[in-house]
Amino acid sequence: MNKATRKTVIAGNWKMNMTPSAAAKLISELAPKVAGKNECDIVLCVPFVDIDAAIKAAEGTNIKIGAQNVHFKESGAYTGEISAAMLCEVGVEYVIIGHSERRQYFGETDETVNLRTKAALAAGLKVILCLGELLEARQSGITEEIVSMQTKLDLAGLTKEDLKNVIIAYEPVWAIGTGLTATPEQADEACGVIRNVVENLYDKETAEALTIQYGGSMNDANAKELLAKVNVDGGLIGGASLKSDAFAAIVDAAQ
Ligand code: 13P
Repeated sequence: MNKATRKTVIAGNWKMNMTPSAAAKLISELAPKVAGKNECDIVLCVPFVDIDAAIKAAEGTNIKIGAQNVHFKESGAYTGEISAAMLCEVGVEYVIIGHSERRQYFGETDETVNLRTKAALAAGLKVILCLGELLEARQSGITEEIVSMQTKLDLAGLTKEDLKNVIIAYEPVWAIGTGLTATPEQADEACGVIRNVVENLYDKETAEALTIQYGGSMNDANAKELLAKVNVDGGLIGGASLKSDAFAAIVDAAQ
């Protein structure tokens, strides 16, 4: 595998944090700290109501703005949901789909993850597709089976061309917000499993071009080691993306 052929992407997932004014403040603090750091793409996935303020604050910087979910229907009676066209019109480039918190608390399934992914891609968004095993699965030794199955179900029906706009984020659920991080070897192994599945579903070229991030308590202290692994092409960062210094240090680690 040739890591040099892939784009490293460092993305923040703010989850349900930051009001619009706090979003603008954080981005204006972060922007000078990451200016000129062009060895990776930098994305912040913010709450829907922060998007407008975030896009304005990020104008003229190397920070791109993403959303944290999208619905699969184009429009209609889906109270509380947001369509891909709505995101595109306000200037969003990326969207997280299938985060474990959506799977755990909001009934997201591999089927709806797949539908959302198709809708987002059809609208021209780039997708950060999250998957990863629960602690019980890791302890039972079935991580590979779970991660393989999720990859197959979540990507069902997508073409090679679609995959150019997909990033997969491997996020072991037991490492999210817990301070427990997968070891670089565990992260590399699981990302490698995902890459193998993609190679089997598509071809070697598609697999080698796919950016696969690690997410789960990545921070300024552990990022460098994780990002050094051959199959780890970036990070999806929760807690540490809420502090400009910590997030900028992770971007530095990716240079
Ligand atoms: P933490 O970095 O807070 O563990 O969150 C990871 C995550 O869920 C990113 O999507």
